[in-house]
Amino acid sequence: METKNERAYLITGGIPLKGEVRVSGAKNAATKELVACLLTDEKVELDNVPQIGDVEVTLEMLRDLGAKIESNNGHVTVDASGVTSHEVSAAFSRKNRIPILFLGPLLHRFKEAVIPSLGGCIIGARPVDFHLEALKTMGAEITCDDSVYKAHAKRLKGAVIELPFPSVGATENVMLSAVLAQGTTIIRNAAIEPEIEDLAMLLQAMGAIIRLEVNRTWVIEGVDKLHGAKHRVLPDRIEAASFAAVAALTHGEIFVRGAEQATMISYLNALRRVGVPFEILEDGILFKSADKLEAIALETDVHPGFMTDWQQPFVMLLTQAHGVSVVHETVYEDRFGYTDALRQMGANIQLHKECLGSKPCRYQNRDYRHSAIIVGPTPLKAADIRIPDLRAGFSYLIAALVAQGESRITNVEIIERGYEDIVGKLKKLGAEIKVT
Ligand code: EPZ
Repeated sequence: METKNERAYLITGGIPLKGEVRVSGAKNAATKELVACLLTDEKVELDNVPQIGDVEVTLEMLRDLGAKIESNNGHVTVDASGVTSHEVSAAFSRKNRIPILFLGPLLHRFKEAVIPSLGGCIIGARPVDFHLEALKTMGAEITCDDSVYKAHAKRLKGAVIELPFPSVGATENVMLSAVLAQGTTIIRNAAIEPEIEDLAMLLQAMGAIIRLEVNRTWVIEGVDKLHGAKHRVLPDRIEAASFAAVAALTHGEIFVRGAEQATMISYLNALRRVGVPFEILEDGILFKSADKLEAIALETDVHPGFMTDWQQPFVMLLTQAHGVSVVHETVYEDRFGYTDALRQMGANIQLHKECLGSKPCRYQNRDYRHSAIIVGPTPLKAADIRIPDLRAGFSYLIAALVAQGESRITNVEIIERGYEDIVGKLKKLGAEIKVT
């Protein structure tokens, strides 16, 4: 519901966006790496940390526990030697999902931890049962009362953990707990996203013994102590993918400095199938526009598949592709809610409960509208739209940049949680965007 005097972005569509944009550090690596700083009393220096809402909240949580933080233009130093509290304050209830990752580091420091209720985008039920089961297997006792988690453990022990699904958060939680645990931990059916590898690289630089084996298996040999380190956060492949869609859909041309081919292979393949031209250059990727976009069928998946956070900008591309496209979302059960507003703007998108993909997913026969049929191209007209979640937020910006007329977008704080200086970056590319 809109509140009085709410901030809004007013965007005039139909202008080709051209020029260069520098991709920021990845939100979904930086926030976890800040938590990892709690695993040592020595200083950890992180570079390329994005200046976004979720990082601010994570830094506030660390400060509140007693850590000293120096933050200057993307360079953050964390000194956790003065941490005195085992309790992530209730003031951080429902802000985001990062607090659950404090479990392991706080248990190592204090043998107990209190974690407030979690927030995060509403794109499905998003339980943390895998996290809790894994930590229990490693020796933690955990209770949950009124969505507050209380945990105890004399010393976490290495264990063999088989995840029911390759969950990003559960893999990170076990990693952060295993590096200082007694003995070896094996995580099977683990997530292997580039952001997790980046976290593993920081942990290794801090003195951890950690390796990735075949078949989604992480092996972590616990050590007694970790030390300070320096680390550069990898570039945000979700932000880079979003600018690719902006270039293609506004008939522009954008060089995304810092975009990495290695972490975007599935996205680039999908772009090529749709017909968006791009050039891999030494220090980034140049995305262009196509005369005609082709409809395709696509499924989201865990890495190395087409990631669920790329789905929203890509659906925008498909609204302007010729023919019938199909997108099967297999990671979250409820990640198409944002398409209602796109329909209002003129997109032809129908949602279905069936698995419209090459294989059935976990949501087969479970009444979730997790497949989309998109018929294009249809012209888009400006609208007054409210952002429901972070990644949908960028796709609404794209819709407004494409639509004829001036769109008004509200609930913009959500987008500022995850994208650094988004208004400044779009303006630099030529967008007509006002903040009220
Ligand atoms: C991370 O969420 C990201 N968030 C998400 O990005 C991203 O979409 C997701 O990974 C998948 O890549 C952060 O890194 C902060 P999961 P996470 O555990 O860790 C189910 C964004 O916009 N599951 O891999 O919460 C879960 O419900 C966000 O930046 C359980 O059932 O995702 C989901 O269906 C949105 N039980 C699936 O697994 C559990 O205990 C994958 O979730 C854990 C997960």
